[in-house]
Amino acid sequence: MSEATPDMFDLTGETAVVVGAGIGGLGARAAQELSRRGANVVLADHPGRADDLAASAATLAGPCSTATCDVTSEDDVSALMAHAVATFGGLDVVVNCAGAMLRKEFDQTTVEDFERLLRVNTLGNWLLARAAGVQMLAAPPARGGRIVLMSTVYAERVGPIPESAYYASKAGVVNVTRALAQELGPHDVRVNCLAPGVFYPTGMTAALDETPDRLEWFAARTMLGRNGDPDHDFTGPLVFLSTPASSFVTGQVLYVDGGWSAW
Ligand SMILES: NC(=O)c1ccc[n+]([C@@H]2O[C@H](COP(=O)([O-])OP(=O)(O)OC[C@H]3O[C@@H](n4cnc5c(N)ncnc54)[C@H](O)[C@@H]3O)[C@@H](O)[C@H]2O)c1
Repeated sequence: MSEATPDMFDLTGETAVVVGAGIGGLGARAAQELSRRGANVVLADHPGRADDLAASAATLAGPCSTATCDVTSEDDVSALMAHAVATFGGLDVVVNCAGAMLRKEFDQTTVEDFERLLRVNTLGNWLLARAAGVQMLAAPPARGGRIVLMSTVYAERVGPIPESAYYASKAGVVNVTRALAQELGPHDVRVNCLAPGVFYPTGMTAALDETPDRLEWFAARTMLGRNGDPDHDFTGPLVFLSTPASSFVTGQVLYVDGGWSAW
């Protein structure tokens, strides 16, 4: 890279909001990596995670701030964007790593269960993208806005675990991504979605240590023959979608699954 070539992966001086950054899962890794790349980072998580958020923020070397936000609350989500702008003077990147899972057979899953998953996973991604888009239209980021939503390898397929509410709620994120990418594209705001395979361990997957055969089954589904390492396999794709490195990429689902979806 010549001295005159800007580093397309650099985020110095930009503001990034990372939701679901409290308990040391994929969101905490995202916050650490965006901070390492120079971003001012707002770490957010559910109001019940305020203590975890403070601990997560303490792992960042660069400027950061914390805010609680329930992604199913329109008011919380709007307040989060306002907090980022008030604290750091703008909004360039929003990453949503908040999510909920429910392992339950179809005949045990209640309407309330199903609606809760839709609210956290589908509505939550839409509310965050909507609020980010509104803010980015009001004050356009110099290098274009970047919104990164979160689906799963199950975006367009299902797996062996009975979790119909989870599968349905994460499939919806794909068309939330495409639809908002279409509406925001003319304003130079890009919306993409990550679709991870199994990353172990995180808050969501820690319980898999009780079923090692299932972990092995997941690993065998991939072309690489292993599950994702939260420390090494997640932040590269996340940085790609969060920076000008992906300046002509929008409305896409990026599978980060060791080849699982490519069979
Ligand atoms: N770990 C994996 O293998 C994997 C695979 C595919 C997709 N994903 C997705 O990646 C995202 C992060 O997963 P993770 O493995 O880091 O899980 P995690 O449980 O470690 O993190 C999820 C975070 O979401 C937060 N959250 C839950 N409900 C919320 C709400 N209403 N408002 C705000 N925050 C809320 C939790 O407090 C937690 O911090 C999730 O969307 C998950 O579905 C994970």
